[in-house]
Amino acid sequence: MTALTLPIGKSPIDRSAGSSAGLVVLISGRGSNLQAIINAVRAGRLPAEIRAVIGNEHGAPGLARARTAGVPTHVISHRDFSTRDQFEQALIDRIDPYSPRLVVLAGFMRILGKSFIDHYAGRLLNIHPSLLPAFPGLHTHARALQSGVKYHGASVHFATPDVDGGPVIIQASVPVRPDDTPEILAERVLQEEHRIYPLAIRWFLENRLSIRDGKVLLDGQQRPEQGLPSTGSAATIS
Ligand code: GRF
Repeated sequence: MTALTLPIGKSPIDRSAGSSAGLVVLISGRGSNLQAIINAVRAGRLPAEIRAVIGNEHGAPGLARARTAGVPTHVISHRDFSTRDQFEQALIDRIDPYSPRLVVLAGFMRILGKSFIDHYAGRLLNIHPSLLPAFPGLHTHARALQSGVKYHGASVHFATPDVDGGPVIIQASVPVRPDDTPEILAERVLQEEHRIYPLAIRWFLENRLSIRDGKVLLDGQQRPEQGLPSTGSAATIS
């Protein structure tokens, strides 16, 4: 069988504009991952331009973070639309004039439909606070504690219509401690989120990612830097 290697962002379905490194970030709330991306750009660790931040909640603290950083913001509230399709078309109409190479979901708390995801196929990233495929969906930290796992963590993945099920780019794990509460564990995971999201975005923009047989490769291989489990347990990335 011939393995198909699809260079991300260079596929025929890529509607990106040229080789620019423009990002549009979608948020719903606090925006700490957005802040980590802003900080990485400022520090020169991420050669990208955040062209706009779009929120679906008026008053989301992340919007203030964007404004402070001088990034244009928009609010498109799902409550203003009678169907999900209309809401998502309004998002697309707002995003596309910025010609982003990559659309970044950073705590965007709406499930996106197939037509939105297909529109940005191969250039839509999400971060999820668990070691996928463990604990898709909500309340991941409480569920991790209840299940008794020894390690928990975060995953950056390509978004596909399969919610929290797209190909994983990078994972980071943290230990679960006996006295953890969901809040304490969430904070430990969040520190790792802030490290791995800018890194995954950088890899994407450097054209270092490809997908083969549903797995994301970095420089053509599954590499330790991706933190991906090779023998069943996720490794912490150094
Ligand atoms: C993060 O835990 C992220 O993994 C999840 O939503 C949370 C957003 O946090 N998708 P923030 O808004 O980036 O602070």
